[in-house]
Order: sequence, then structure tokens, then C-alpha cells
Amino acid sequence: MQLIDGKETAARIKAEIAATVQQMKAEGHRAPHLAAILVGHDGGSETYVANKVKACEACGFTSTVIRREADVTEAELLGLIDGLNRDPEVDGFIVQLPLPRHIDEQKVTEAIRPEKDVDGFHPVNVGRQALGLPCFHSATPAGIVELLKRYEVPTRGRRCVIIGRSNIVGKPLAMLMMQRGIDATVTVCNSATANLAEITRQADILVAALGKPHFVTADMVADGAAVIDVGTTRVPDATRKSGFRLCGDVDFDAVAPKCTFITPVPGGVGPMTIVSLMQNTLLAATHAIYPER
Ligand code: GUN
Repeated sequence: MQLIDGKETAARIKAEIAATVQQMKAEGHRAPHLAAILVGHDGGSETYVANKVKACEACGFTSTVIRREADVTEAELLGLIDGLNRDPEVDGFIVQLPLPRHIDEQKVTEAIRPEKDVDGFHPVNVGRQALGLPCFHSATPAGIVELLKRYEVPTRGRRCVIIGRSNIVGKPLAMLMMQRGIDATVTVCNSATANLAEITRQADILVAALGKPHFVTADMVADGAAVIDVGTTRVPDATRKSGFRLCGDVDFDAVAPKCTFITPVPGGVGPMTIVSLMQNTLLAATHAIYPER
């Protein structure tokens, strides 16, 4: 069994990005600039955005965080997005999700110019990804594919089973895994799937992205499978200073002995998600996906 070390891989990629940025600066270009809009004080969102700021520093990027209280109006939020869309000093930006219930997340997502949508959530980027056209890939699926490539996990002709059909992980990952060059045979399961364990046992690559701690047990995994755990549920833990620990969707101790490869939580997919956002921001800054206009 080989542990897929997302933390170490992410550090290596950040160093690669930092070297590119140093070169850009030496050639007289400004640093790539990522902005984030953070609404309210959700603990998970605070952590994500703090990690994004740290990753920007490691990559030599400029970062800006725009904060608003949870009672911000949708109109004000759309106004902020309009400003960032027009700001030539901002290469890419994200609106941290989830948003308060009185704000329409889809409307907000569609207000972001696709050229600056480094989360890859805009329908234009989602549609282009489905067609295999250049686009911003959403960060978690892109991070998973990068890990599979760097650890040389075979994908061509292999069965990939994904548990979870969310718009930010399950669906876009399915699209990537079936893409030419990756060539996996993909099955996407959801909470209504019948005989789930029968399906997951057929997986050469099993991805758990449903958000239920330790949902995937040893009997659901074939000998020799590669297991990717996307879960990051906060469970109370009085022994931690924070009062919680992150728990994956896979019962790691029971499943790991059966695997060829497995990602831990934390330190697996999580750090790669952030690094994919950095890669997208660099692509935005260099106009590598969409031409400058
Ligand atoms: N909330 C959880 N994950 C993400 C993400 O990747 N991007 C944004 N904007 N919000 C999130």
C-alpha cells in the first residue's frame, strides 16, 4: 500500500509555481492576483480562505480578501463581483461557498466572468470541461487527477466509481476521468443507488465524496483498489485545541491494508484543492485559457 501524500505533492507544486512567478516578475510582469469574497463567519469557509491566502504567499501571488457580514444583500454582492470582473489588477476570484440562504448561489456564480472564474463553477467553464475544451477545471477534481498522474495510478481502461454527484466534486470529476487521455470507465453513485457495495467493489479507483465520516468500509473495497477520500467532516474532538478534527469518508485503518494507493485525511486531497486554485490563477494571469480582451 502506498500512501498518496497530498501535502508533500502540493508543496512541490507550489514551489514550481513560485519559480514560474519569480521568472514572470524578473521579466517585468506583476504577480498573479487572486481575490476571494467571504460572507459571514462559517468556520470551514474561514479556514479555506485562510489557507488560500497562505498558499498565495507561498506561490508569490498577491491576494485580497473582501469580507462582508452574513446580512449582506445580494445586490451588494453582485456589485462587488462586477467590480472584480472589471478590475484589470485582479486575474481571478472566488466567492466562498456556502452563502447565506437569502442569496442565490447560482446567480452569484453566473455573475463571475468565465475568464476570472478560477473555481471553474461558471456554466461556461463546466460546459467547456464537458466538451474537453480549454477551461478552468474545478479545483478538487483537478487536484485528484493531478495526484493520480503524479503517483502513476493507472486509469486507462480502469473502472472508476465515484460516490457523490455534487456539482463541485462528483459531476466534474466524472467528466475529467472519462476524458480522452485518462480513459477511465466511470460510474457515479448517489444516495439512491441500489446495491452500492456491489458497485464499489468493482472499482479500480474508488472516490468517496459524499461527506459522511467513515462511510466506506473494508467490505466495500476490492483488493488492490486505489482509494481517494474527499471527505472533510469536522467531528468534535476535545483533545484538539480547535475542538474538532477532520474526518474522511473512508474508514482508513480498515480499508488501507486492501489498497494499492490511498489518500489520508487530512493531508490528501485537501491541500491539492488549494494548489489547483493556484494553478488556475496562474493560467488566468497568463491568459493561457482565454485570450486577453
Ligand atoms: N466551498 C467549499 N469548497 C469550495 C471551493 O472549492 N470554492 C468555493 N468558492 N467555495 C467552496
